[in-house]
Amino acid sequence: MAVVIETIDAFEILDSRGYPTLRVVVTLENGQQGVASVPSGASTGRHEALELRDGDATRYGGKGVLKAVSHVRTIIRDHLLGAEVMSQETVDQALIALDGTENKSRLGANAILGVSMAVARAACAAKGIPLYEYLGTRSARRLPVPMMNVINGGRHAENSLDFQEFMIVPHGAPTFAEALRFGAETFHALRTALRKWGHSVAVGDEGGFAPNLSGSEEACEFIVQAIQSAGLRVGTDVAIALDPAATSFWNNEQYVFEKSSREAVSRQELLELYRRLVDAYPIVSIEDGFAEDDWDGFRLQTALQGNRIQIVGDDVYVTNPQFIRRGIEGRATNAALIKLNQIGTVSETIRAIEMCREAGWQYVISHRSGETEDTFISDFAVAMGGGQIKAGSLSRSERLAKYNRLLEIERELGPSAIYESPFSKFQQTRAKVKS
Ligand code: PGA
Ligand code: ZN
Repeated sequence: MAVVIETIDAFEILDSRGYPTLRVVVTLENGQQGVASVPSGASTGRHEALELRDGDATRYGGKGVLKAVSHVRTIIRDHLLGAEVMSQETVDQALIALDGTENKSRLGANAILGVSMAVARAACAAKGIPLYEYLGTRSARRLPVPMMNVINGGRHAENSLDFQEFMIVPHGAPTFAEALRFGAETFHALRTALRKWGHSVAVGDEGGFAPNLSGSEEACEFIVQAIQSAGLRVGTDVAIALDPAATSFWNNEQYVFEKSSREAVSRQELLELYRRLVDAYPIVSIEDGFAEDDWDGFRLQTALQGNRIQIVGDDVYVTNPQFIRRGIEGRATNAALIKLNQIGTVSETIRAIEMCREAGWQYVISHRSGETEDTFISDFAVAMGGGQIKAGSLSRSERLAKYNRLLEIERELGPSAIYESPFSKFQQTRAKVKS
């Protein structure tokens, strides 16, 4: 029996940085509803779908989203009234056609994504099944290994670190619940260690600490020390992942460490820094080690380190199948970061993931630095089965909501839940850890 959309509503809410974003409510003819909230990035890729902001300086410094809200309540609602809610692909195609632009700039990718996600949720309500099962299959039962951003820098913190994210990866845990414990205990040990050395333990946008350290080596040292203090095995239980977000310090064909040493390095020198870091620390993944336009940097790194670690493209692909195809053809990386709001619909995001799978690439489902309490990505990560999620640190409830939702899913799946490292293929060559 067809279940159709009766109405769609939206309103302005605030994200984790206190800036406006959208919440969308899709109501079905049978009265059931689907609700979704849209995240927002700070270190955005140039080719991301457009996040529509009002630009009215008298409200929220121009960051209001009332235009996008109004697009949902009028143009989009009128167009989707009576649409079959179970056909995600058809609904998403209708949204894309209605917008009619390359980057969703007419209606706003924030308006479109909110509707796309809320439609998926409404379909779950109608079917009476969880989102991970609806978007996946009954066999979707792999919990993702979390990449937890415990030291924040770059555009996410007012400190001396140029690299944006230093993450811990509890890939050696037996279950997701244990992985969360490994992560939290390491996070607490890290706080103790930072405090002992007189560093600030205030947190950045994604809930990680934001101390004024000398650079990436010192940050990795602190993390290794924290893993050890937590009584966990460095590398085996908990490894490290980096997201330098190098677009943010790429300037005139050079990488400039503006926040720390003010030193400018070439692509080759930056590559050499990554080589040293991977040799010295148990790093399993580096994301956006080079800037979004520096495809040569990515290709060189993948040729050099691609059999040893996961190399992830974020700003360079912006979850766009067109750019991911270029990356696959040029062997630019061996993995992609996946953010629903970079491309703007659930179906296009799934297409980007399918492309990764076909190429034998790994993929990491990711939050944004501006988040809400919505946990869509937790279900989405289980549905897509790639075994990795990036959802921030072990503080700030907009981050923990994602992890807590994964605990619920693991509990629901019971003994059929799977938790396994996506990095075992790199294990033989992984770095020896300094002790
Ligand atoms: P953003 O950062 O959400 O601020 O873009 C996240 C990332 O770069 O992975
Ligand atoms: Zn990134």
